[in-house]
Amino acid sequence: MADLRVSIKDMRFKNPVLTAAGPTSRDGMTLLNAAAGGAGGLVAKTVSVRAAEIPHPNMAALKSGVLGTKQGMLNAELWSEIPLERWLEREYAIALSAGLPLIASVGYTPEDVASIGPRLEEAGVHAIEFSTHYVGGHVEIAKALKEAVEVPIFAKLSPKVDVAEVAKSLEPHVDGIVGINTYGPCLRINIETGMPLLGSSAGEGWMSGAALKPIALRCVADIAKSVDLPVIAVGGVMSGEDVIEYMMVGASAVQVCTAAILGGDAVYGKIASEARDWLNEHGHDSLEDIRGIALKHVESPKTLSGTPHIDLEKCTRCALCMKSCVYSAISVDKKKNHFEIDPERCQSCGMCISVCPYHALSIP
Ligand SMILES: Cc1cc2nc3c(=O)[nH]c(=O)nc-3n(C[C@H](O)[C@H](O)[C@H](O)COP(=O)(O)O)c2cc1C
Repeated sequence: MADLRVSIKDMRFKNPVLTAAGPTSRDGMTLLNAAAGGAGGLVAKTVSVRAAEIPHPNMAALKSGVLGTKQGMLNAELWSEIPLERWLEREYAIALSAGLPLIASVGYTPEDVASIGPRLEEAGVHAIEFSTHYVGGHVEIAKALKEAVEVPIFAKLSPKVDVAEVAKSLEPHVDGIVGINTYGPCLRINIETGMPLLGSSAGEGWMSGAALKPIALRCVADIAKSVDLPVIAVGGVMSGEDVIEYMMVGASAVQVCTAAILGGDAVYGKIASEARDWLNEHGHDSLEDIRGIALKHVESPKTLSGTPHIDLEKCTRCALCMKSCVYSAISVDKKKNHFEIDPERCQSCGMCISVCPYHALSIP
C-alpha cells in the first residue's frame, strides 16, 4: 500500500490533499467537516483587519451542455466575512480540534499581516499563508510577516504575475510557495435576464476549477523549476490523477476548493484514495517516487509522431476518441468489437490519447 504521508517544514500531513481558502474553509465547523471528509491538512479562509462585505450573488458554475458543471466556477467572494476576533477566539480552536496541521491565511498589506500574524500564531496555527491576490508588493508583505512570526510562512501567488520571477524574489523571505489563486476577471451572463450572473462590480468574477488547471500546472512547474522551496499546488484538483500530475511537476501537496464546493466534504478523501490507487497500480511506494519527474521533460520535450498504438485490453470501445478525431481516422464499433486507426488519415495530433479515459492509446 503506497504511503501518502507528506511533510512540509515541521508539518506532517496524513495525505497531500488540503483544504484551500474559500467557502469550504469559511469557519471552524466547516474545517472540521473537511477533516471528517478525509482532508490531510487544513487551510482556513483568508482573514484581514476588517470583515469583508461581499456582493450577492457571488458564485456561478461554469457549464456547457457537453461538460456539465465539471469545468469549474466563477466567484466574487472576497476574504472572510467573519471578524478576525471571532476567528481568534473560536474558529481556529475548533479547526485545531481536528488534530491536523492548520494553516491560516491572511491579507493584504505589510501593515495588516504584521499586526495579524502574531495573533494567528498565538491562536495556535501551525503556519501562515499570505494572499497577494492582485495586490502586488510580494517581498514587502513577506518581509513584514516573516519578521512578525516564528511559524513557517507561505506566499500564495496569482496567475497573472510572472510566478517564476516573483517566487525567486520571495525565496529568501518565505518557507514555501502556494500557487495559484483564481484567474480573472471573467464574466458570465444570465441569458433569461441579460444580467451578469454575479453581483460584483461590472459583474466580474474569478475562475477556478478544472478550467484553471492547465494554467495552474504551468505556474507550479515554473515555480518548482525556479526555487528550492516546497510548492503547494492549487487549481482544478478534481481527482487523484490531478494530484499525481501536480506531484510530477514538483508539488509537495495540493489544495482543493472548487471540487469540494461542487462535490462536498467527501471529495478530499476520495481524491486522496484515488491518488493512492494510482501509485499502487504503477508500483510506487510513495509520492516521493514521482515528485518532480516531469520537470526534465517540461524543459526539453520530445516530439512524438506516428499512428497511436491501441491497447485492446484497456479499450472499452466507448468511441470517445472517434468522436473527437477531427481527421476521421478512427472507427470504433462496440457491437462488432471493432477498433481501427487509419494511418493515412491520422495526423498524430494526440487528441485521442488525451480524451481516452482508460489510457488505452499511446504513441510509442
Ligand atoms: C468562492 C471562492 C472563494 C475563495 N476565497 C479565497 C480566499 O479567501 N483567499 C484565497 O487566498 N483564495 C481564495 N480562493 C481561491 C482558492 O483558494 C483557490 O486558490 C482557487 O479557487 C483555485 O483552486 P480550485 O480550482 O481548487 O478552486 C477562493 C476561491 C473560491 C472559488
